[in-house]
Amino acid sequence: MAKNLVVTGGAGYIGSHVAVDLINAGHDVLIIDNFVNSHPKAIERIKEIAPGRIDLLERDLANADHADEIVDAIKTFGADGAVHLAGLKAVGESVEKPAKYYSTNIGSALTLIRALEAANAKSLVFSSSATVYGDYNDNPVTEDGETGATNPYGRTKLFIEEILKDIARADNDWKIVNLRYFNPVGAHPSGKIGEDPNDIPNNLFPYIAQVAIGRREKLTVFGNDYATRDGTGVRDYIHVCDLARGHVKALDWLSGQKNGVVKDINLGAGVGYSVLEAVSAFKRASNRDIPYEIAARREGDIAEIYADAGLANELLNWKAEKSLEEMCADHWRWQSQNPNGYKTD
Ligand code: UD1
Repeated sequence: MAKNLVVTGGAGYIGSHVAVDLINAGHDVLIIDNFVNSHPKAIERIKEIAPGRIDLLERDLANADHADEIVDAIKTFGADGAVHLAGLKAVGESVEKPAKYYSTNIGSALTLIRALEAANAKSLVFSSSATVYGDYNDNPVTEDGETGATNPYGRTKLFIEEILKDIARADNDWKIVNLRYFNPVGAHPSGKIGEDPNDIPNNLFPYIAQVAIGRREKLTVFGNDYATRDGTGVRDYIHVCDLARGHVKALDWLSGQKNGVVKDINLGAGVGYSVLEAVSAFKRASNRDIPYEIAARREGDIAEIYADAGLANELLNWKAEKSLEEMCADHWRWQSQNPNGYKTD
C-alpha cells in the first residue's frame, strides 16, 4: 500500500538512495534536509531517476526555531511514518566537538519523534550503525552482541537507539527498527547519485575514488600490522543500493507488526574485505592506478568487523546481493561522471 513517508537527511548519500527506492516502491516522500552535508542537486537527480511525488522541506531538525514548522509540515503531509537519517557523522570531528554532535543528532531525533507523535505516524526506521558494537564482539557480529561506542558520534547512535526503546516502551503505538549499517559504499548504477564528501574524505571508498580520479595523490593505509590476513583492517562493505532496499523492506515489515515492536537489525553483506583487497578491486573496476602508502594505525580503529546478517534475512527477507566488484564499478561510475561530486557542472 502506498504511504506518505518522511525521509530526514534525504539529500545525503544514503538518504538519496533510500528516497529513490521508496518512490520506486510507489510511496510519496517528504525529504527534510538542511544541506549541511549534502547538495540540493541530489534532489533533482532523485527526481530524474525516480519520477514520483517528492516534496522538500529545507529546514534544520536540530534548530529549535524550525521545530514547530517541521511538526506542522509532517502533519500536513499526512505522514504514515519516517526514515530518520539526518545527522552528523564524522568520527574525528565528534571527538573535537562532542556537544555539537549530541545537540545535533539527539536534538534532530527528538524533534522528529515529536512531529511523528503529533501526526500520529508512529512508525520509524532509524539509521544506526555497526559502530554501536565497538570492539567487544567476535565476528560475525549478531544483534545481541555487546554494545558500547568508542566516540561521541557512535554514542549518539547508541543513545538514540535507547531513546527510541524508551519511547516505544512508554507508548505502545510506536513501531521501530534500528538498522545497524556496516560500511555502505558504491552508488546508484545510473551514476547520478553517490557519496559527495564536503571535505577530505574520512572513509576508505570516497578516498580511494578521489585518488583514482586524480583529486588526491595517494591513499594512506592506516596500519598493516593488524591480526588479519594481510595486516590491514577488515570491514563488511555493503552496496548502498542493497542498503536502501533494506529500508523499504523494514518499513514493509513494520506495517505487518503489532504495536510496540522495536528491533535492532544488522544490514551488512556478512563478508569482510581488507583495505588492500578493496584497493585491488577498485583498481580493476576503474582501470586506474591507486598509489598508496602504509602509515600508522588510525586511533579508534579496530582490526576486523563483519555482520551476521541472518536476522535481516529471516525477518525482512533481505540479503545483500551486490558483489565487491559491483560496489567498486558503481562507485567509480559516479566518481568519473561527477569528478567534483554535485559541484561538477
Ligand atoms: C567509520 C567510522 C564509523 C562510522 C563509519 C561510517 C571510524 C573509526 N569509524 O567506520 O564509526 O560508522 O565510518 O561510514 O572512523 N582506511 C584507510 N585509509 C583511509 C580511510 C580508511 O586505511 O584513508 C581504513 C580504515 O583503517 C578501516 C577501513 O579502511 O580499516 C574502513 O575505514 P572507514 O571507511 O573509515 O570505515 P570504518 O572505520 O569502518
